[in-house]
Amino acid sequence: MCGIVGYVGSKNATPILLDALEKLEYRGYDSAGIALVSSNGIEVKKTRGRISTLRSITGEVEAGGCTVGIGHTRWATHGEPSDVNSHPHLSRSERVAVVHNGIIENYIELREFLAEHGYVFSTETDSEVVSELIDYYYNGDPIEAVRKAEMQLKGSYALGILFKDYTDQIIALRKDGPLIIGVGEGENFIASDIPAILKHTRSIFRLGERELAILTKDGVTVIDKYGERIEHECEHIDWDVDAAEKGGYAHFMIKEIMEQPEVIAKTINPRIINDKRIDLGLKRITDDDLRGIKAIKIVACGSAYHVGVVAKYFMKKTLGIPVEAELASEFRYDDPIVDEHTLVIIISQSGETLDTLYGLREARSRGARVISIVNVVASSIANESEDVLYTWAGPEIAVATTKAYSTQLVLMNLLNWHIANVKGLMRDDEVARAITQLREIPEQMNGMLSDHEQMQYLASLFFNCHSVFFIGRNIDYALSLEASLKLKEISYVHSEAYAAGELKHGTISLIEDGTLVIALCTYRPLLEKMVSNIKEVKARGAKVIAIINHDDTQTEGVADHVVRIPECSEYAIPSLTIVPLQLFAYYIASHKGCDIDKPRNLAKSVTVE
Ligand code: F6R
Repeated sequence: MCGIVGYVGSKNATPILLDALEKLEYRGYDSAGIALVSSNGIEVKKTRGRISTLRSITGEVEAGGCTVGIGHTRWATHGEPSDVNSHPHLSRSERVAVVHNGIIENYIELREFLAEHGYVFSTETDSEVVSELIDYYYNGDPIEAVRKAEMQLKGSYALGILFKDYTDQIIALRKDGPLIIGVGEGENFIASDIPAILKHTRSIFRLGERELAILTKDGVTVIDKYGERIEHECEHIDWDVDAAEKGGYAHFMIKEIMEQPEVIAKTINPRIINDKRIDLGLKRITDDDLRGIKAIKIVACGSAYHVGVVAKYFMKKTLGIPVEAELASEFRYDDPIVDEHTLVIIISQSGETLDTLYGLREARSRGARVISIVNVVASSIANESEDVLYTWAGPEIAVATTKAYSTQLVLMNLLNWHIANVKGLMRDDEVARAITQLREIPEQMNGMLSDHEQMQYLASLFFNCHSVFFIGRNIDYALSLEASLKLKEISYVHSEAYAAGELKHGTISLIEDGTLVIALCTYRPLLEKMVSNIKEVKARGAKVIAIINHDDTQTEGVADHVVRIPECSEYAIPSLTIVPLQLFAYYIASHKGCDIDKPRNLAKSVTVE
């Protein structure tokens, strides 16, 4: 998704902007650009392609030594990736330059309006109307022009704006999209995310909905949507700069896979009191509210939805009420049946996924109680939920999620047990025992991660395969969904996840000599059925890798290869089972030489529909 940066200070802005844009590469992009303002006017350099391409054309502006500028990485939505469609957009009058993240839903209407006033457009983008509209309203007062233009915008926007007449300032504005302000000494920044500016400052705050900020090198002024001046307290970011970098690994993805034991512990531990009680720190949703909950809906997209599917199985079993996992993009348009007795659990790493955000709003508008599980502090979903539970996974840079998925999963366990406890369905001693078992995961996972060669070896055997089928039953089926997504999104190998019992209803016709089937066999009650499914696909020529429990004696000898999960509690099995499958996807992609951290066509944070 698009990335925005901005710098105002006394240093040469170009290298700072380019470096900051590189830190946002993880968001996914197809073009990049910068705009600089000085007494010579606004100068724009932009191009389709990577930041390295942008670097090759910015030598001249860099030599100019401008100290105020904005930058952008674009992920095309309206209009193909091209030089002209790249941001920043400079108004025809060359008085205003804009970088935009989001979508202007009424841009066609606005184009027509502006065309009637003599404006002409040179791009296919929705964003170009923003620079022209601000220009249209500009009469010497930049804030008035931005606010008047904003009144006409429908959709989502995070904006960085330069005015030719104001060579010492940047204006920033946001609605429904992320934008942070970095406060430095004699310099200030805007960015879509923290890693972009961490090198320069650790003091940041997030701009609120429809707040407008004016940044100069000496300070930041924030004005709310009513025109009132407001103060924001800065948050101190204590991550290591390293946490936002690769830390010696070949890719962010493998670094993040390896970080899982640590971040799982960070997510669980602060919520456990005296080793036996769960305190989730819910502020608005009380124990009484939870006692009254009669149904649960888990709403999310992609991998976060897959966490919901795993949780659906265990929550239904523990709580004995209907629990459903729903894709946010379906839920929001499906007249969801929810009321004040429904708990809607929203799951999102970024906290900015647009479909998920709108799913949340839909649920709240219908009176449901909403708890969100989010990784990015103070993101839109976190802000708009009644209560938020943060996963403490730290910045996740690789587009394919791993550590956020794992922390979401353990947090769903804690939430499940907390609800069960207040509803009288789990005694205190049962909760205490479950907690102890959950807290064993980091150590067990460390053991698995240090033993990653087996997955490396299996990937070396199968990296040339054209199609992979993941099969499982119950929670193993839910895990198959994630394993399959992980493989296909980073390695471009076609894969599908199937409830094992469904194979014979159609898909088995695709199994032929050498087709790889990965059978997840950790769900004990249905192990025998899985062994039969393995035999069925083997009889049709499949090669089978089975993921099995430490004490499984039935599967070895039937499958071609087995991967054993260490001895662990039933609560730990899902968290541990996904690890070899993440590694398998990673090593297959690595063998194939794929761009693992930035797979084609994908974005880390999907802030459009
Ligand atoms: C896949 C992946 C995506 C995200 C999905 C939701 O590896 O990362 O499927 O899970 O786009 O994103 P968030 O969790 O930010 O709402």
